[in-house]
Amino acid sequence: MIEVKYENGLKKDITKESYQFKKERYVVLRDIIPKDMIKFVYDCWLRWEKSDKLSQVIKPEEDIIFNSPEDTLNRSSAVFENAPWSVALQQYLKPKLEDIIDVELIPTYAYTRKYERNAFLKAHNDRPSCEFSVTLPIAYFTDDHKPWKIWVKNDKDYIGVKDDRYISSITQDIPIRERKDIGVELEPGDILVYQGPNVLHWRDRLVGKHSYNIFLHYITYNNDIYKKYGDIYKFDNRESIYHDYERSKEKQREDTDSYVESLPEYPQMINNYLKFKREV
Ligand SMILES: [Fe+2]
Repeated sequence: MIEVKYENGLKKDITKESYQFKKERYVVLRDIIPKDMIKFVYDCWLRWEKSDKLSQVIKPEEDIIFNSPEDTLNRSSAVFENAPWSVALQQYLKPKLEDIIDVELIPTYAYTRKYERNAFLKAHNDRPSCEFSVTLPIAYFTDDHKPWKIWVKNDKDYIGVKDDRYISSITQDIPIRERKDIGVELEPGDILVYQGPNVLHWRDRLVGKHSYNIFLHYITYNNDIYKKYGDIYKFDNRESIYHDYERSKEKQREDTDSYVESLPEYPQMINNYLKFKREV
């Protein structure tokens, strides 16, 4: 534990993981999901993928992030939003993350994506529903048998930065040997937890057959966006974590995103943890 003193004078012992997440905007938690559970999830996914009926909801994705290079298009597919096994993992991890990071989490959505050879995740930051984000591999098949790196640029808050050419120029366009950013390698069972809107994140081309990945998103209970628009951000404006999206409600959430992101105070409205300085 690390004893920290907050700006308002409060002293508290927090875990080193909580300290790192709040200060450095990301933390890697190793071996937090038991291998049996990873296999259970992978079996569910393979059954879904091989079924003529069930696989109808696995949709090819042309361009994951707007304006990706031409030769990387159509290299991934996503199981319809909130696949059952991803929702179950989102629920499984919620109390553990709340304990370790010392936050109160509301699930927003879960995403389930299979990347194929040469897939590419263009550098970006996330929308408000991804305030507290988790990414994890279920299985990967790379040519060198090493994890497919996810890169993180965490030197400052990038919330509100949307110019994709600028973002590329300070991230993916820089040759790997010259990068000062963090290349995170995750084995199945490990997770990367990061402040989605604040951290630029990306993956270079996948040199391998494929990679099965899950993304879990939450919003924190105590932020200003949640206090004002909690009804819209809770479950990403679905009835519950088990429900589908309704088109009109999805539109309402998108409109709220646009409004919130246009506010001058937006950068302070999420991931605004009490400021602390290290004591020891
Ligand atoms: Fe993202």
